[in-house]
This record gives sequence, C-alpha cells and structure tokens, in this order.
Amino acid sequence: MENVRDFWRKLWNQHAASDNMFVQIGRSSYTPLEFALAIRDICKALDFNKEDIVLDAGAAVGWISMFISPFVKKIVLFDYAEEMVSKAKELTAYFDNIQVEHDDILFMKKIDGQFTKVISASILQYLENKEQVMTALSNIYKVMAPGGKAMFAHHPDLKKKAAHLDSYNRLDWDKEKIKQSLEMEEKRLWFDIEEIGKMASKTGFSKCYELPINSKLWQSTHMIDFVVEK
Ligand SMILES: C[S@@+](CC[C@H](N)C(=O)[O-])C[C@H]1O[C@@H](n2cnc3c(N)ncnc32)[C@H](O)[C@@H]1O
Repeated sequence: MENVRDFWRKLWNQHAASDNMFVQIGRSSYTPLEFALAIRDICKALDFNKEDIVLDAGAAVGWISMFISPFVKKIVLFDYAEEMVSKAKELTAYFDNIQVEHDDILFMKKIDGQFTKVISASILQYLENKEQVMTALSNIYKVMAPGGKAMFAHHPDLKKKAAHLDSYNRLDWDKEKIKQSLEMEEKRLWFDIEEIGKMASKTGFSKCYELPINSKLWQSTHMIDFVVEK
C-alpha cells in the first residue's frame, strides 16, 4: 500500500512537470507579489550576506535559491523528488553559485559542509511522524556552522487545525472538492510550537523562536514559521 511519503513524492514529481513556477513549488495559488513576500520573510529571518554558504532543503526546482543567489556566496540545494532535481539542474545552470543534489532530508548522504544559513520552506509537513522530524532537525544541525541559523517556513499549526478544517465548509466549492482537500489536510503533519522548541533543544540548537508570517500570505492564517540557531 502507498504510504504517506510515497503519496507526496509522487505528487511532487508530477508538479515538477508543470511550466508554472508556482505549481512547481507547491504554491499554485500564489501571485508574484505573494512569492516576493515569502522571499522577504526568509530574508528577514536569515539576514543574508556575501559570505553566507546556504543550504536550501527541499528546494523543488530551486526558485527560492535562484532569487537569493546574488546576495550570498554559495547555495547547495537538494530535493528528494527526482523530477524536481533534474529541472533544478536545468534552471540553475544559469547561476554559477548554485549546486544541485538529489537527497532526502531524512538521510542527507550527499550533503556535507558548514552551512551558515539553512532554508527549509514547507517540507517538514510532508514527513510521516515526529521521529522523522527529529531526524530531519538533527541532520540539518550536523551540517550547520557554529552560530549558523536555519529558517523552517510554513508548518501547519495544530492549535489552528480545527478552525482551518472548518473553514472549508464555508467555501463555495462542490462537496467532492472539499472532501478531497480535507483528506489532503489529514495527510500533512501538524505542529505544536512548544513541542518544536523541545525537539530543537534536544537536537542541540541553542535557540528556537517563532516568527510571524506576512499577513498577506494564505499560510499566515494557520501556519508556523520558526528559526533555530546553532
Ligand atoms: C511545497 S514544496 C516547497 C518547495 C520550496 N522549498 C518552496 O518553499 O518554494 C515541497 C518540496 O519539498 C520536497 N520534499 C518533501 N519531502 C522531502 C524530503 N524528505 N527530503 C527532501 N525534499 C523533500 C518536495 O519534493 C517538494 O519539492
């Protein structure tokens, strides 16, 4: 039987085939303004400089990396979906400071180094359980430079789950579309910020704090952004 991880990976490989950049990165309802605001949230959290060596985990075809590439020294991006990786290689060929790898945040066999900044935008929700989240946090911790910062963006907030699911019933959608969307919501992992803080501290991070998501973004109604420091 297809497990949740296989379900998501298949979906990501399908999204990679789209010509629409927002579909490719799983943000199909985004406008260019919303993408710019999401990048702004990341830049505010990580305060990039020309010495930064950046890891972009679960980068899809690499749009976030391509937009921040002029402001940092080097970026290594990876994704576990083969089709995302091959498209990322094609697109980032125009960027001499971006390296693309095929890897999984649960293994990170090809990722080595001392990253000063890490971006992990909208990946942890596609893991299966909190043990896998601990593994992901610890894999990221191992490749960070002392004093490094990692931003984890867009995690469904357990405290807002009931209200979020209920909001589907107020949409002007047909019943089947609502049913499918609710099934999808149940496949995601939902997070509690206090629990994230405990997991980050157990991993070894010295700090973990929540940051606000720009209020123009749909994610701000029911998601959490957080930063960890080594
Ligand atoms: C919603 S998209 C986000 C893409 C990009 N980070 C962004 O925010 O624009 C999620 C991406 O994470 C990747 N992904 C999910 N689970 C992963 C894992 N365990 N390891 C590596 N990549 C993963 C998917 O293949 C997909 O490309």
